[in-house]
Amino acid sequence: MTRATPGAAPESALQRPRDWWRDAVVYQVYPRSFADSDGDGMGDIPGLIGRLDYLADLGVDAVWISPFYSSPLHDGGYDVADYRSIDSRLGSLTDVDDLIAQAHARGMRVIMDIVPNHSSSEHPWFQEALTAGPGSAAWDRYVIREGRGEDHEEPPNNWRSVFHGRGWSRMPDAEGNPTGYWYLHLFDTTQPDLNWENPEVHEEFRDILRFWFDRGIDGFRIDVAHGLVKEAGLPDFDHPEAGSGLPGFDGDEQAPEPMFDSDHAHAPYWDQDGVHDIYREWRAVADEYDPPRVFCGETWVPNPERLARYQRPDELHTSFNFSYLEAGWDAEAMRSSIDATIANHATVGAPPTWVLSNHDVVRHRTRLAPITDGAADLERGLSRARAATLFTLGLPGSLYLYQGEELGLHEVSDLPDEARQDPAWHRSGGTDGRRDGCRVPIPWSGAAPSFGFNDTGASWLPMPATWAGLSVAEESGVDGSTLEMYRAALRIRREEAALGEGPLEWLNAPEGVLAYRRPAAEDVIVVLNLGDAPVRLPAAWGTDVLMGSGDAIAVLDDDGEEIVVIGGEISVWLRG
Ligand code: GLC
Repeated sequence: MTRATPGAAPESALQRPRDWWRDAVVYQVYPRSFADSDGDGMGDIPGLIGRLDYLADLGVDAVWISPFYSSPLHDGGYDVADYRSIDSRLGSLTDVDDLIAQAHARGMRVIMDIVPNHSSSEHPWFQEALTAGPGSAAWDRYVIREGRGEDHEEPPNNWRSVFHGRGWSRMPDAEGNPTGYWYLHLFDTTQPDLNWENPEVHEEFRDILRFWFDRGIDGFRIDVAHGLVKEAGLPDFDHPEAGSGLPGFDGDEQAPEPMFDSDHAHAPYWDQDGVHDIYREWRAVADEYDPPRVFCGETWVPNPERLARYQRPDELHTSFNFSYLEAGWDAEAMRSSIDATIANHATVGAPPTWVLSNHDVVRHRTRLAPITDGAADLERGLSRARAATLFTLGLPGSLYLYQGEELGLHEVSDLPDEARQDPAWHRSGGTDGRRDGCRVPIPWSGAAPSFGFNDTGASWLPMPATWAGLSVAEESGVDGSTLEMYRAALRIRREEAALGEGPLEWLNAPEGVLAYRRPAAEDVIVVLNLGDAPVRLPAAWGTDVLMGSGDAIAVLDDDGEEIVVIGGEISVWLRG
């Protein structure tokens, strides 16, 4: 394996055009919360452009940007009113062209988010449906059915919304009065599900893909990729017990619909076999381009076997692997998720992906924190988060980072109720839907209230006063800061050890420790101590510590041999 010459320019992802996605580190930007150029309290595309140097310097290969389309923002932009235009609060098409050009100039790819399961109720198609009626072309673009009961006053079936409550709402007549017909919305009432039985829907989305690919977008993350096709006949579902719609949140008695359910039969609207036909069509569109454009599916599926089906050679390039995110701080669960994921992806020749945080789940510093006296111990949470990240960055495949995790940001769990915007918060009567806590804007520099997010101090969600010490400016150049740990790990992963692809071999490790070797990547050994006490590593692993998330010291063991001792809740990379 070649090592980069010191001082040589890093190998750019753009120089590896066809397969860059196989081992890419992708940075997720939630655009409303990243950087605000005009001071209105909402991040925007010019703000993101202004921070591209920061991302290039961090060492990521690509940026995935959550939706910035025209939207009434009832679900943070995952309610799209026009798939070909930009929300004026976030920028313009010219800004997106500029973003693509400027990212490419820095060697980074740009991945957009596409939302094909549902549109916004403000989309012209749904607006047309509101003035049309049964049997119309406009109705056939959505999932609209006659209700049950004598007066059709009951929904067509018992499906629930992921955001709590019924999965159906009544279609109004021209005067706004309820009719006997209902439209399906697996999410908010303002997100009617599209009807993927209708060829016009297929054609429209192929056209939307081309619209953006022609502008130079390198790929798409596909929202709710496992949900587009519903079982024929829309049968009732034997709903599992109340649980959380999204991981990291407590369930409640109003029973949202989980995004998937591993203990029960498949829900009749998730992970249906027919969904794969859509991705074959989309892959053909992506392959019309040179270099081919790529997809990453948001696929909440019950197990790694079902996940691998999405990555068959003529379907999606990659998909999110949420089993790893859900493994928590648990050696057994982490190891079995890694094994099953790698093994199943190998059957289809696809690289696995790994992710610890995103805009839907509790930030991993908080999620992995032990609970002490009823509260998350955020100091230990930070050690664990850093260790989990370093351990994950050694895995083969592609990795997704969520904005702010490189600063060690924690979940903001105490947002005032009136500030919350997650639709699930409102639909659950304030008992669930706390996704705003991971969407608080990023601290860049300086003092409260907005820490350099903009110049005006405005912020669509309030930022904690304690974030002063977690800003980019505060952490830059500081030895041992979380930001510098990410920078170093990404550089070594790409330039020095080429950890991206290749096999992984587990090593026999002391109790409570996970360790694997990457034989094709300079034999790097990646170690994670999940226990809270220091651990002596076997002498055979050597003492050449490439980097660590915390303390690692060389000592002499009883036989006078040099060994490494690592602290509790720490990960290290050793050159084997
Ligand atoms: C996905 C998105 C989430 C959104 C939902 C509905 O899970 O990640 O933020 O609320 O889909 O579009």
